[in-house]
Amino acid sequence: MTEIAGRVAVVTGGGSGIGRGLALELAAQGAAVGVADIIFENAVAVAKEIEAKGGKAHPVKCDVIERNAVQAMRDEVTKALGRVSLLFANAGATSFEKVTDMSESDVDWIIHVNMMGVTNCILAFYPDMVKARDGHIFATASTAGLMPHWIPYHAPYSGAKMGVIGLMLNLNLEAAEYGVGATVLCPGGVVSNMKAKNMSYRPERFGGPTDEEVHVSSSFVEHNKLVFRPADKVARLCLKAVRTNKPMVISDGKMREIFVRTYQSLVHDAFDFVDEFDAAEAASSPP
Ligand SMILES: NC(=O)c1ccc[n+]([C@@H]2O[C@H](COP(=O)([O-])OP(=O)(O)OC[C@H]3O[C@@H](n4cnc5c(N)ncnc54)[C@H](O)[C@@H]3O)[C@@H](O)[C@H]2O)c1
Repeated sequence: MTEIAGRVAVVTGGGSGIGRGLALELAAQGAAVGVADIIFENAVAVAKEIEAKGGKAHPVKCDVIERNAVQAMRDEVTKALGRVSLLFANAGATSFEKVTDMSESDVDWIIHVNMMGVTNCILAFYPDMVKARDGHIFATASTAGLMPHWIPYHAPYSGAKMGVIGLMLNLNLEAAEYGVGATVLCPGGVVSNMKAKNMSYRPERFGGPTDEEVHVSSSFVEHNKLVFRPADKVARLCLKAVRTNKPMVISDGKMREIFVRTYQSLVHDAFDFVDEFDAAEAASSPP
Protein backbone atom coordinates (compact mmCIF):
# COMPACT_ATOMS: atom_id res chain seq x y z
CA MET A 1 0.00 0.00 0.00
CA THR A 2 1.56 3.32 -1.09
CA GLU A 3 0.48 6.07 1.28
CA ILE A 4 0.23 9.58 -0.16
CA ALA A 5 0.51 11.67 3.02
CA GLY A 6 3.98 12.96 3.85
CA ARG A 7 5.42 12.24 0.39
CA VAL A 8 6.83 14.57 -2.23
CA ALA A 9 5.10 14.32 -5.63
CA VAL A 10 5.75 15.86 -9.04
CA VAL A 11 2.97 16.37 -11.58
CA THR A 12 3.90 17.35 -15.13
CA GLY A 13 1.22 19.25 -17.01
CA GLY A 14 0.14 20.17 -13.48
CA GLY A 15 -1.10 23.60 -14.53
CA SER A 16 -4.33 22.45 -16.18
CA GLY A 17 -6.99 19.76 -16.53
CA ILE A 18 -6.14 16.26 -15.27
CA GLY A 19 -2.72 17.39 -13.98
CA ARG A 20 -4.25 20.22 -11.97
CA GLY A 21 -6.80 17.75 -10.56
CA LEU A 22 -3.98 15.36 -9.58
CA ALA A 23 -1.91 18.14 -7.98
CA LEU A 24 -4.85 19.43 -5.89
CA GLU A 25 -5.88 15.92 -4.80
CA LEU A 26 -2.30 14.94 -3.91
CA ALA A 27 -2.05 18.06 -1.72
CA ALA A 28 -5.48 17.37 -0.18
CA GLN A 29 -4.23 13.88 0.75
CA GLY A 30 -1.11 15.32 2.41
CA ALA A 31 1.65 15.29 -0.23
CA ALA A 32 3.93 18.24 -1.04
CA VAL A 33 3.61 18.84 -4.78
CA GLY A 34 6.03 20.02 -7.45
CA VAL A 35 3.75 21.49 -10.11
CA ALA A 36 5.64 21.36 -13.43
CA ASP A 37 4.31 22.85 -16.64
CA ILE A 38 5.50 24.38 -19.89
CA ILE A 39 3.11 27.29 -19.12
CA PHE A 40 4.73 28.59 -15.95
CA GLU A 41 1.92 30.97 -14.94
CA ASN A 42 -0.52 28.03 -14.79
CA ALA A 43 1.89 26.06 -12.58
CA VAL A 44 2.17 29.10 -10.29
CA ALA A 45 -1.64 29.46 -10.12
CA VAL A 46 -2.09 25.80 -9.10
CA ALA A 47 0.74 26.02 -6.52
CA LYS A 48 -0.99 29.11 -5.07
CA GLU A 49 -4.33 27.24 -4.92
CA ILE A 50 -2.63 24.45 -2.97
CA GLU A 51 -0.93 26.86 -0.58
CA ALA A 52 -4.17 28.81 -0.04
CA LYS A 53 -5.70 25.57 1.27
CA GLY A 54 -2.77 25.07 3.68
CA GLY A 55 -0.79 22.65 1.46
CA LYS A 56 2.81 22.74 0.28
CA ALA A 57 3.73 23.23 -3.39
CA HIS A 58 6.52 24.39 -5.66
CA PRO A 59 5.83 25.58 -9.22
CA VAL A 60 8.44 24.95 -11.89
CA LYS A 61 8.64 25.69 -15.61
CA CYS A 62 9.54 22.58 -17.56
CA ASP A 63 9.17 21.36 -21.13
CA VAL A 64 9.10 17.57 -20.72
CA ILE A 65 10.39 17.10 -24.27
CA GLU A 66 13.79 18.47 -23.19
CA ARG A 67 15.70 15.83 -21.19
CA ASN A 68 18.02 18.39 -19.55
CA ALA A 69 15.04 20.51 -18.51
CA VAL A 70 13.41 17.48 -16.86
CA GLN A 71 16.64 16.68 -14.98
CA ALA A 72 16.85 20.34 -13.86
CA MET A 73 13.19 20.24 -12.77
CA ARG A 74 13.94 17.12 -10.70
CA ASP A 75 16.87 18.89 -9.01
CA GLU A 76 14.81 22.04 -8.33
CA VAL A 77 11.83 20.18 -6.81
CA THR A 78 14.13 17.95 -4.73
CA LYS A 79 15.91 21.02 -3.36
CA ALA A 80 12.64 22.82 -2.62
CA LEU A 81 10.54 19.95 -1.22
CA GLY A 82 12.77 16.88 -0.65
CA ARG A 83 13.16 13.46 -2.34
CA VAL A 84 10.43 12.84 -4.91
CA SER A 85 8.79 9.45 -4.41
CA LEU A 86 5.65 9.98 -6.52
CA LEU A 87 5.97 10.92 -10.19
CA PHE A 88 2.93 11.81 -12.30
CA ALA A 89 4.16 12.05 -15.91
CA ASN A 90 0.93 13.51 -17.21
CA ALA A 91 1.83 16.32 -19.66
CA GLY A 92 0.65 15.71 -23.19
CA ALA A 93 -0.85 17.21 -26.32
CA THR A 94 -3.21 15.89 -28.97
CA SER A 95 -3.98 16.09 -32.68
CA PHE A 96 -7.07 15.21 -34.71
CA GLU A 97 -5.78 15.42 -38.27
CA LYS A 98 -4.89 13.19 -41.18
CA VAL A 99 -1.15 12.52 -41.26
CA THR A 100 -1.03 14.02 -44.77
CA ASP A 101 -2.46 17.28 -43.37
CA MET A 102 0.23 17.46 -40.67
CA SER A 103 3.71 18.90 -41.09
CA GLU A 104 6.70 16.78 -40.08
CA SER A 105 7.11 19.11 -37.07
CA ASP A 106 3.49 18.51 -36.02
CA VAL A 107 3.99 14.74 -36.09
CA ASP A 108 7.35 14.97 -34.30
CA TRP A 109 5.83 17.19 -31.60
CA ILE A 110 2.97 14.78 -30.85
CA ILE A 111 5.32 11.78 -30.68
CA HIS A 112 7.90 13.66 -28.58
CA VAL A 113 5.61 15.31 -26.05
CA ASN A 114 3.59 12.17 -25.36
CA MET A 115 6.19 9.39 -25.64
CA MET A 116 9.51 11.08 -24.90
CA GLY A 117 7.89 13.35 -22.30
CA VAL A 118 7.00 10.32 -20.17
CA THR A 119 10.31 8.58 -20.98
CA ASN A 120 12.37 11.62 -19.92
CA CYS A 121 10.50 11.80 -16.62
CA ILE A 122 11.06 8.09 -15.94
CA LEU A 123 14.79 8.47 -16.67
CA ALA A 124 14.99 11.44 -14.28
CA PHE A 125 13.04 10.02 -11.32
CA TYR A 126 13.04 6.20 -11.48
CA PRO A 127 16.74 5.59 -10.55
CA ASP A 128 16.30 7.46 -7.22
CA MET A 129 13.20 5.38 -6.45
CA VAL A 130 15.07 2.15 -7.22
CA LYS A 131 17.95 3.27 -4.96
CA ALA A 132 15.51 4.09 -2.16
CA ARG A 133 13.47 0.94 -2.88
CA ASP A 134 10.39 3.14 -2.58
CA GLY A 135 8.20 5.15 -4.88
CA HIS A 136 5.53 5.11 -7.57
CA ILE A 137 5.52 6.17 -11.21
CA PHE A 138 2.22 7.16 -12.77
CA ALA A 139 1.80 8.16 -16.41
CA THR A 140 -1.16 9.46 -18.36
CA ALA A 141 -1.76 7.65 -21.66
CA SER A 142 -5.17 7.57 -23.36
CA THR A 143 -7.92 5.21 -24.45
CA ALA A 144 -6.78 6.31 -27.93
CA GLY A 145 -3.59 4.34 -27.15
CA LEU A 146 -5.43 1.40 -25.61
CA MET A 147 -7.63 1.17 -28.72
CA PRO A 148 -5.50 2.75 -31.44
CA HIS A 149 -7.92 1.59 -34.16
CA TRP A 150 -10.91 3.35 -32.55
CA ILE A 151 -10.64 7.08 -33.31
CA PRO A 152 -9.82 8.14 -36.89
CA TYR A 153 -7.26 10.87 -37.73
CA HIS A 154 -5.36 10.33 -34.49
CA ALA A 155 -2.39 8.23 -35.70
CA PRO A 156 0.69 9.91 -34.12
CA TYR A 157 -1.19 10.48 -30.85
CA SER A 158 -2.59 6.93 -30.70
CA GLY A 159 0.84 5.51 -31.52
CA ALA A 160 2.62 7.55 -28.86
CA LYS A 161 0.00 6.76 -26.21
CA MET A 162 0.12 3.03 -27.04
CA GLY A 163 3.87 3.33 -26.55
CA VAL A 164 3.30 4.85 -23.10
CA ILE A 165 0.97 1.98 -22.18
CA GLY A 166 3.59 -0.60 -23.23
CA LEU A 167 6.36 1.25 -21.39
CA MET A 168 4.36 1.51 -18.18
CA LEU A 169 2.89 -2.00 -18.10
CA ASN A 170 6.31 -3.50 -18.67
CA LEU A 171 7.95 -1.16 -16.13
CA ASN A 172 5.36 -2.31 -13.61
CA LEU A 173 6.91 -5.81 -13.75
CA GLU A 174 10.50 -4.61 -13.42
CA ALA A 175 9.83 -1.93 -10.81
CA ALA A 176 8.14 -4.46 -8.52
CA GLU A 177 11.57 -6.07 -7.94
CA TYR A 178 12.54 -2.85 -6.11
CA GLY A 179 9.28 -2.20 -4.31
CA VAL A 180 8.45 0.59 -6.79
CA GLY A 181 4.94 0.81 -8.28
CA ALA A 182 3.83 1.83 -11.78
CA THR A 183 0.38 2.80 -13.02
CA VAL A 184 -0.82 3.99 -16.41
CA LEU A 185 -4.02 6.01 -16.78
CA CYS A 186 -6.14 5.67 -19.92
CA PRO A 187 -8.59 8.57 -19.79
CA GLY A 188 -11.62 8.41 -22.05
CA GLY A 189 -13.16 11.84 -21.68
CA VAL A 190 -12.12 14.20 -18.90
CA VAL A 191 -13.02 17.89 -18.63
CA SER A 192 -9.85 19.85 -19.43
CA ASN A 193 -8.46 22.69 -21.54
CA MET A 194 -7.12 20.42 -24.28
CA LYS A 195 -9.68 21.38 -26.94
CA ALA A 196 -9.16 25.13 -26.52
CA LYS A 197 -5.52 25.39 -25.48
CA ASN A 198 -3.72 22.40 -27.03
CA MET A 199 -1.93 24.34 -29.76
CA SER A 200 -0.64 26.90 -27.26
CA TYR A 201 1.59 24.13 -25.81
CA ARG A 202 3.60 23.60 -29.04
CA PRO A 203 7.24 24.56 -28.40
CA GLU A 204 9.13 26.84 -30.82
CA ARG A 205 11.26 24.02 -32.23
CA PHE A 206 8.11 22.20 -33.40
CA GLY A 207 6.52 25.27 -35.02
CA GLY A 208 5.62 27.36 -31.97
CA PRO A 209 2.29 28.08 -30.26
CA THR A 210 -0.91 29.12 -32.05
CA ASP A 211 -4.43 29.85 -30.79
CA GLU A 212 -6.18 27.29 -33.06
CA GLU A 213 -8.74 24.98 -31.44
CA VAL A 214 -8.63 21.19 -31.76
CA HIS A 215 -11.57 19.90 -33.79
CA VAL A 216 -12.99 16.64 -32.46
CA SER A 217 -15.87 15.32 -34.57
CA SER A 218 -19.07 15.80 -32.55
CA SER A 219 -20.71 12.86 -34.37
CA PHE A 220 -17.85 10.63 -33.15
CA VAL A 221 -18.42 11.79 -29.55
CA GLU A 222 -22.19 11.24 -29.85
CA HIS A 223 -21.85 7.85 -31.58
CA ASN A 224 -19.62 6.57 -28.78
CA LYS A 225 -21.73 8.26 -26.08
CA LEU A 226 -18.60 9.79 -24.57
CA VAL A 227 -19.12 11.43 -21.18
CA PHE A 228 -16.54 13.98 -20.01
CA ARG A 229 -15.83 13.38 -16.32
CA PRO A 230 -14.62 16.06 -13.90
CA ALA A 231 -10.85 16.01 -13.31
CA ASP A 232 -11.19 15.98 -9.49
CA LYS A 233 -13.16 12.72 -9.59
CA VAL A 234 -10.65 11.16 -11.98
CA ALA A 235 -7.81 12.31 -9.69
CA ARG A 236 -9.38 10.52 -6.70
CA LEU A 237 -9.68 7.36 -8.80
CA CYS A 238 -6.03 7.68 -9.89
CA LEU A 239 -4.71 8.09 -6.36
CA LYS A 240 -6.68 5.03 -5.26
CA ALA A 241 -4.99 3.13 -8.12
CA VAL A 242 -1.57 4.38 -6.96
CA ARG A 243 -2.23 3.42 -3.33
CA THR A 244 -3.14 -0.12 -4.41
CA ASN A 245 -0.53 -0.36 -7.22
CA LYS A 246 -2.96 -1.08 -10.05
CA PRO A 247 -1.04 -1.42 -13.35
CA MET A 248 -3.77 0.36 -15.33
CA VAL A 249 -6.69 2.65 -14.59
CA ILE A 250 -9.52 3.59 -16.99
CA SER A 251 -11.32 6.87 -16.31
CA ASP A 252 -14.80 5.61 -17.16
CA GLY A 253 -16.29 2.10 -16.70
CA LYS A 254 -18.68 2.74 -19.61
CA MET A 255 -15.66 2.45 -21.95
CA ARG A 256 -15.77 -1.35 -21.43
CA GLU A 257 -18.43 -1.75 -24.13
CA ILE A 258 -16.40 0.32 -26.62
CA PHE A 259 -13.25 -1.66 -25.77
CA VAL A 260 -14.96 -5.03 -26.33
CA ARG A 261 -16.60 -3.83 -29.56
CA THR A 262 -13.41 -2.41 -31.10
CA TYR A 263 -11.15 -5.30 -30.09
CA GLN A 264 -13.61 -8.05 -31.04
CA SER A 265 -13.55 -7.12 -34.71
CA LEU A 266 -9.76 -6.71 -34.80
CA VAL A 267 -9.06 -9.95 -32.92
CA HIS A 268 -11.53 -12.02 -34.97
CA ASP A 269 -10.16 -10.58 -38.19
CA ALA A 270 -6.50 -11.19 -37.31
CA PHE A 271 -6.98 -14.68 -35.80
CA ASP A 272 -9.42 -15.88 -38.49
CA PHE A 273 -6.91 -14.73 -41.09
CA VAL A 274 -3.99 -16.68 -39.64
CA ASP A 275 -6.18 -19.75 -39.00
CA GLU A 276 -7.35 -19.73 -42.63
CA PHE A 277 -3.77 -19.25 -43.81
CA ASP A 278 -2.50 -22.18 -41.68
CA ALA A 279 -5.38 -24.39 -42.84
CA ALA A 280 -4.63 -23.59 -46.50
CA GLU A 281 -0.88 -24.26 -46.02
CA ALA A 282 -1.62 -27.58 -44.28
CA ALA A 283 -4.02 -28.62 -47.07
CA SER A 284 -1.50 -27.80 -49.81
CA SER A 285 1.56 -29.40 -48.18
CA PRO A 286 2.33 -33.06 -49.05
CA PRO A 287 1.30 -35.62 -46.37
N1 LIG B 1 -8.99 15.14 -21.25
C1 LIG B 1 -9.16 13.99 -21.85
O1 LIG B 1 -10.28 13.59 -22.18
C2 LIG B 1 -7.97 13.14 -22.16
C3 LIG B 1 -8.18 11.92 -22.83
C4 LIG B 1 -7.11 11.11 -23.09
C5 LIG B 1 -5.85 11.48 -22.68
N2 LIG B 1 -5.63 12.67 -22.06
C6 LIG B 1 -4.26 12.99 -21.63
O2 LIG B 1 -4.31 13.62 -20.36
C7 LIG B 1 -3.13 14.41 -20.18
C8 LIG B 1 -3.52 15.76 -19.62
O3 LIG B 1 -4.30 16.46 -20.58
P1 LIG B 1 -5.62 17.29 -20.20
O4 LIG B 1 -6.76 16.64 -20.86
O5 LIG B 1 -5.65 17.56 -18.77
O6 LIG B 1 -5.35 18.63 -21.06
P2 LIG B 1 -4.95 20.11 -20.65
O7 LIG B 1 -4.74 20.78 -21.95
O8 LIG B 1 -5.96 20.71 -19.73
O9 LIG B 1 -3.58 19.95 -19.86
C9 LIG B 1 -2.36 19.60 -20.52
C10 LIG B 1 -1.24 20.22 -19.69
O10 LIG B 1 0.04 19.75 -20.20
C11 LIG B 1 0.91 20.88 -20.30
N3 LIG B 1 1.93 20.60 -21.33
C12 LIG B 1 1.73 20.44 -22.66
N4 LIG B 1 2.93 20.23 -23.26
C13 LIG B 1 3.86 20.25 -22.28
C14 LIG B 1 5.27 20.08 -22.29
N5 LIG B 1 5.97 19.89 -23.43
N6 LIG B 1 5.94 20.14 -21.11
C15 LIG B 1 5.27 20.36 -19.95
N7 LIG B 1 3.93 20.55 -19.88
C16 LIG B 1 3.24 20.49 -21.05
C17 LIG B 1 0.01 22.03 -20.69
O11 LIG B 1 0.60 23.29 -20.45
C18 LIG B 1 -1.22 21.75 -19.81
O12 LIG B 1 -1.05 22.34 -18.54
C19 LIG B 1 -2.45 14.45 -21.54
O13 LIG B 1 -1.36 13.55 -21.56
C20 LIG B 1 -3.54 13.99 -22.49
O14 LIG B 1 -3.01 13.42 -23.67
C21 LIG B 1 -6.67 13.50 -21.79
